[in-house]
Amino acid sequence: MAKSSDVKDLKLAPEGKSRILWADNDMPVLRLIRQRFEKEKPLKGIKLGACLHVTAETANLCRTLQAGGADMVLCASNPLSTQDDVAASLVKDFGLKVYAIRAENRDTYYKHINITCEFEPAITIDDGADLVNSMHTDMAKYSGNVIASMEETTTGIVRLRAMEEAGALKFPVIAVNDADCKHLFDNRYGTGQSTLDGIVRATDALLAGTRLVVVGYGWCGRGVAMRGRGQGANVIVCEVNPVRALEAVMDGYLVMPMAEAAKVGNIFVTVTGDKNVIDVPHFRKMRDGAIVCNSGHFNVELNLTGLEKIASKINRGIRTLVDEYVLAGGKRVFVLGEGRLVNLACAHGHPASVMDMSFAVQALSAEYAVKNAGRLPIKVNPVPAEIDAWVASLKLKSMDVAIDKLTAEQKAYLSSSHMGT
Ligand code: ADE
Repeated sequence: MAKSSDVKDLKLAPEGKSRILWADNDMPVLRLIRQRFEKEKPLKGIKLGACLHVTAETANLCRTLQAGGADMVLCASNPLSTQDDVAASLVKDFGLKVYAIRAENRDTYYKHINITCEFEPAITIDDGADLVNSMHTDMAKYSGNVIASMEETTTGIVRLRAMEEAGALKFPVIAVNDADCKHLFDNRYGTGQSTLDGIVRATDALLAGTRLVVVGYGWCGRGVAMRGRGQGANVIVCEVNPVRALEAVMDGYLVMPMAEAAKVGNIFVTVTGDKNVIDVPHFRKMRDGAIVCNSGHFNVELNLTGLEKIASKINRGIRTLVDEYVLAGGKRVFVLGEGRLVNLACAHGHPASVMDMSFAVQALSAEYAVKNAGRLPIKVNPVPAEIDAWVASLKLKSMDVAIDKLTAEQKAYLSSSHMGT
């Protein structure tokens, strides 16, 4: 029988609680949903299992789902992203069942996911699809109650689409990541800011004048490149997709293959979702003092096993979460956050204001899934367009931004095929 929670130290709860309430100040859309959920209880009696980064922002999502009547278990979606004070407060102050300890090893990480599966949730929320994957493999016998699963991140969607294509998916998925109010804001502005935040907190580096190599020009890469340029870095983009590479060129960045960028870059950030995008030949070419990190979901983008093999010496923790690899001739490469997502390992992840939108979409998608139980097709489903429109409108309102409405004449014009020149 599993413990009712597994967190680092309940004595950390007061600090966690104040950080959760501070984040809530910047989550007005989620707060409105919480107030409605408190009255309407759309998730009453629903068992909900969430595998998410355990942060102050996630805590406010959990409070909202609980307010809606959900009975919840939360586990970590990455071993290095858990904020132990938040986990403690969720248990102590908000009565949640939490299984997450920062820097937990692989066994504990999966033990916590397994406990979440054994809870036999009706709704699951995932960030990276580790929970859904377990519910399709080792823990499949606990998946019988699942109505639907929400997925938060691009990497998770890629995995789930592969399962759908292989005919392996057993329950409907809602692609929260693909909602406009999620990826256009969280992936771009959230990752853009929090990645640089992680690099700066870990290193105290000045970005102005550095050559910042951004590997991958999806929404996350665009955000990192844009914010890097804003800080005065000379941004180089590496990309395999010709259309995206062309966009990067026309957005004004230098574009080149990794083999070339490796020779000139000062700071490297991977945001591709793929494996070994910075590999041994690239590490060999780097300049002394190169800083290397990853902001993609899994710690596979940097070939650290290969780097270890070619290093003559490794000095772990020369600063918090900075490892120094000494290569032939004494050249040094600094790796941040053990190659795990630098924004959550070395900083606090995306700011609350942007998570407000992502988690508003999550909460409303959970409500939609429960309302449509048994009717959603077993595939990766889009978030309904009304949810996007509603979240964007309320976010604008919370920012005191008003916009125009179409006149009746304009609406008629747009819906007519007859009105040409
Ligand atoms: N993903 C990126 N930033 C996050 C945050 N602050 N909370 C939860 N998930 C995140």
